[in-house]
Amino acid sequence: MNDNLTILIGKAIAASRNAYVPYSNYRVGAALLSTDSNVYTGCNVENSAYPAGICAERTAIVKAVSEGVQNFKTIVVATKNGGSPCGICRQVMNEFAPNMRVVMVNFEGAIVIDTTVEGLLPHGFSKDKLDSTD
Ligand code: THU
Repeated sequence: MNDNLTILIGKAIAASRNAYVPYSNYRVGAALLSTDSNVYTGCNVENSAYPAGICAERTAIVKAVSEGVQNFKTIVVATKNGGSPCGICRQVMNEFAPNMRVVMVNFEGAIVIDTTVEGLLPHGFSKDKLDSTD
């Protein structure tokens, strides 16, 4: 395992400790590596109006984009059981980084799934369809 991945796994697990999860009690942490080698972390933040909650992956992506960073290499997602990103998060990942590596780990740091956005969302919808003239 390369050093970057070890660091990202540690940061994703650490971020999960900040999760605000009074409703599901399911903690998720994410660590997103940009192509310029910065790391943006995120956790899930729930709400009493349930759909107002946000997932850990989108928290990390929105933090990065809001700081002017839109190019990503890898995201590590940490949960107690290696849970996989939801459909909305897959779509948001696809918007910025269809080739990004996506690694799901458990809280022991073991890799459960190591894939890509394309692997999670084959034939995803993307902006080139909107740009098309026909
Ligand atoms: N959750 C994430 O943060 N990421 C995912 O990709 C899957 C689901 C959160 C949303 C909610 O706070 C909790 O996990 C249970 O669904």
